[in-house]
Amino acid sequence: MTPNNVEILDIFLENKLPSTFRYFSRRTVDCIRNHLITIVGTINSIPIAYGHIDKDDTDTYWLGVCIIDGYQSNGYGTAIVNYLIEHVSINIIHLTVDKINTNAISLYKKLGFLVVDEYDTYYKMRLDKAYHVQTASINR
Ligand SMILES: CC(C)(COP(=O)(O)OP(=O)(O)OC[C@H]1O[C@@H](n2cnc3c(N)ncnc32)[C@H](O)[C@@H]1OP(=O)(O)O)[C@@H](O)C(=O)NCCC(=O)NCCS
Repeated sequence: MTPNNVEILDIFLENKLPSTFRYFSRRTVDCIRNHLITIVGTINSIPIAYGHIDKDDTDTYWLGVCIIDGYQSNGYGTAIVNYLIEHVSINIIHLTVDKINTNAISLYKKLGFLVVDEYDTYYKMRLDKAYHVQTASINR
């Protein structure tokens, strides 16, 4: 997604977003100018999934993902996070996740993220792509 086709993101953001995804509660769509990558996933042209990787002032890269209510637990979150990871050349990616968000924590652990810091209500997690062994079924 580029700043030229942000309309699809505007439509996604018209949804009531889950309370565990607060990225846009203090940002406008213009923030995507600072993203390495922004993706909106659609089903029948309806935007139901969102993900990004951005960089902060300390050159730390952060991942965000959100599937709207009603479409969760269908593999879309896994697909979005995998897409983001595979389409950036950086190796170290961070995220924060509420401790109560057990589905998200399971997803991130499944894809190789490890908890690196613990705070009162949330964890900081980190993926090192260079130190993660992918598995692939090679059954014939
Ligand atoms: C967290 C979120 C991104 C996960 O995406 P999803 O599409 O719902 O999850 P998936 O279907 O890809 O499942 C990924 C993993 O999560 C876990 N999971 C998902 N739904 C689950 C459920 N109902 N029960 C138990 N585990 C579940 C499983 O570990 C699953 O892996 P598996 O299917 O291989 O067992 C999505 O639920 C979401 O957007 N939630 C609201 C916003 C949010 O919390 N964003 C993350 C902020 S850090």
